[in-house]
Amino acid sequence: MMPTQLDDRVSSLADLKPAIDGCRRCPLFRNATQGVPGEGEVSAEVMLVGEQPGDQEDLQGHPFVGPAGRLLDRAMKEAALDRARTFVTNAVKHFKFQPRGKRRIHQKPDAGEIQACRWWLDQELDLVDPSLVIALGATAARALMGKVVTISKVRGQFIELQESRRLLVTIHPSYLLRLRGEADKQREYDRFVQDLARAAGELKRPAA
Ligand code: URA
Repeated sequence: MMPTQLDDRVSSLADLKPAIDGCRRCPLFRNATQGVPGEGEVSAEVMLVGEQPGDQEDLQGHPFVGPAGRLLDRAMKEAALDRARTFVTNAVKHFKFQPRGKRRIHQKPDAGEIQACRWWLDQELDLVDPSLVIALGATAARALMGKVVTISKVRGQFIELQESRRLLVTIHPSYLLRLRGEADKQREYDRFVQDLARAAGELKRPAA
């Protein structure tokens, strides 16, 4: 059982980093180098939510700066979704991994870790107040919808999260990195860009 925390609610994005570094809601802080909060514009209309920091993100302290992040950047550019105008974060703020020799092998966060970290995701949502949230993959979708979801069943639909906030679920860019065949890779990458372009298109529409 983790020790009970004081209320570590924050009042600005700048306060997130020290607060997350002090978080003891789940055991993931023990092996991670540091907590990795979301980054971007406080006024961003779009928030992209990934799973958890990877190896590079854990070392550098910034979200999506490793291989998956580079692929995300490329896809966002093609989709005309400007990263500088978005807020990019993760469902879980500490890297979960298993050491194997010199390597650190990514491990999926479990239900308890996802739930514990909702505290931080909720604060980011409150501070940024995006009208559109993009869940990158199953962990993000689960964190945001509060239940296990099958990506193929919900992908590409705009789902109402609350008044004035919708969710679009798509794949995680790491999925593309794991695909082997070039044709599959290209097809799935194109679908990913299409999903992001749909999100970008929604933003251009005047508010209803
Ligand atoms: N994968 C994620 O889900 N988030 C990151 O920040 C990096 C890789």
